[in-house]
Amino acid sequence: MRENPLVLHVLGARPNFVKAAPVVRALGELGVRQGIIHTGQHYDALMSDVFFADLGLPEPVANLGVGSGSHAKQTAALLVGLEEVVQEHEPDLVVVYGDVNSTLAAILVCAKLGVPTAHVEAGLRSFDRGMPEEVNRVVTDALADLLFATSPEALAYLAGEGVPASKTHLVGNPMIDSLYAALPALDPAPVVARLGIPDRYAVATLHRPANVDTPEAAKELVDAVLEVSRQVPVVVPVHPRGKARLAEAGLVDGGTVRVVDPLGYVDFLSLVRGAALVVTDSGGVQEETTMLGVPCLTLRPNTERPITITHGTNRLVTPALLPAAAEKALADGAATPAGELPVLWDGKAGPRIATVIAAWLKGDNLAPASQAKRPE
Ligand code: UD1
Ligand code: UDP
Repeated sequence: MRENPLVLHVLGARPNFVKAAPVVRALGELGVRQGIIHTGQHYDALMSDVFFADLGLPEPVANLGVGSGSHAKQTAALLVGLEEVVQEHEPDLVVVYGDVNSTLAAILVCAKLGVPTAHVEAGLRSFDRGMPEEVNRVVTDALADLLFATSPEALAYLAGEGVPASKTHLVGNPMIDSLYAALPALDPAPVVARLGIPDRYAVATLHRPANVDTPEAAKELVDAVLEVSRQVPVVVPVHPRGKARLAEAGLVDGGTVRVVDPLGYVDFLSLVRGAALVVTDSGGVQEETTMLGVPCLTLRPNTERPITITHGTNRLVTPALLPAAAEKALADGAATPAGELPVLWDGKAGPRIATVIAAWLKGDNLAPASQAKRPE
């Protein structure tokens, strides 16, 4: 390895920023030279800039501005842009996060250029190849050199796919690190006042293609959410993907439904912290509600995060079952998580990842952290 090696983080979409912040901070504390490449997959200020500010992320060294498009067009633009920028910067390691198209493109580009890679949030599986994210996860894990898992079952899936145990490390969940770091700033009161909603409310987020891309699916979903809004006011910070389709299906601001722009990280989690109920199809929100002990109903047939059901407050529901499930969750009051919090969700995943990366840069492969003990 050369003197003063360089680590590049490839980030593109909202959840990437949340997962990367603790890793970037911890590598900084170890004095590792690093930079962020922003692909520009998400580009609205409320989908990108606000996260850099809220999470204290440094300015990217490059923004590729790839923007939106079909999977092929977006991935093609990502491949071309990333190849150029990786060749220009000559990193010793590229770190990718989660399961978005920017993640997939970065791992492909680096594999072809012979640049080593690390994948943060490796081994999650929904076993649903109809989800674009599942395709991205499988390809990313097949090509990564270092794989950082957030939950134990991921290690078994990776082993089953032939990934050597020497590459995998169970490190905990960096998205939960970000939540821990933000916790003192999470206050529902000012957000509730600004939105003009009562103190008892639900929050809903919807953006999965299977839920919002067709008028039929959107209508079924919106009808179910509107029924919930007859029980409790619902705030919906709308992801740009579903904005038009959900509005056409009847999700409009007024009465007991507050439809608002996407919220910044601190505002959103403040709202979630004070919510009586969360309804979502987001991956990250399933984890954050588990950590905060807020009841979560996930509008999906499956989840790549089953630990939020076995050790958390999450339940999968269909649109048809949502109103009754919401009624029960609201009647039961504060959620009792199903078990202890997932192992190593202790706010220290970033430092664990940074320790493994720093050792790897020096030529050491630390013993797989899967042997790490639950903190006292
Ligand atoms: C992407 C990820 C998804 C992740 C989500 C997080 C893929 C395949 N999907 O989905 O896994 O859960 O991010 O939020 O990578 N748009 C804007 N402004 C923006 C960004 C997007 O208006 O700043 C609109 C555009 O119309 C765009 C659509 O949202 O076509 C979808 O954006 P895209 O990045 O392709 O996928 P997401 O649905 O955001
Ligand atoms: N989030 C946010 N504002 C919002 C909605 C979500 O800050 O209006 C945060 C949320 O707390 C989590 C991340 O965005 O940290 C999850 O992103 P998203 O749901 O878009 O993606 P997924 O996790 O489904 O990939």
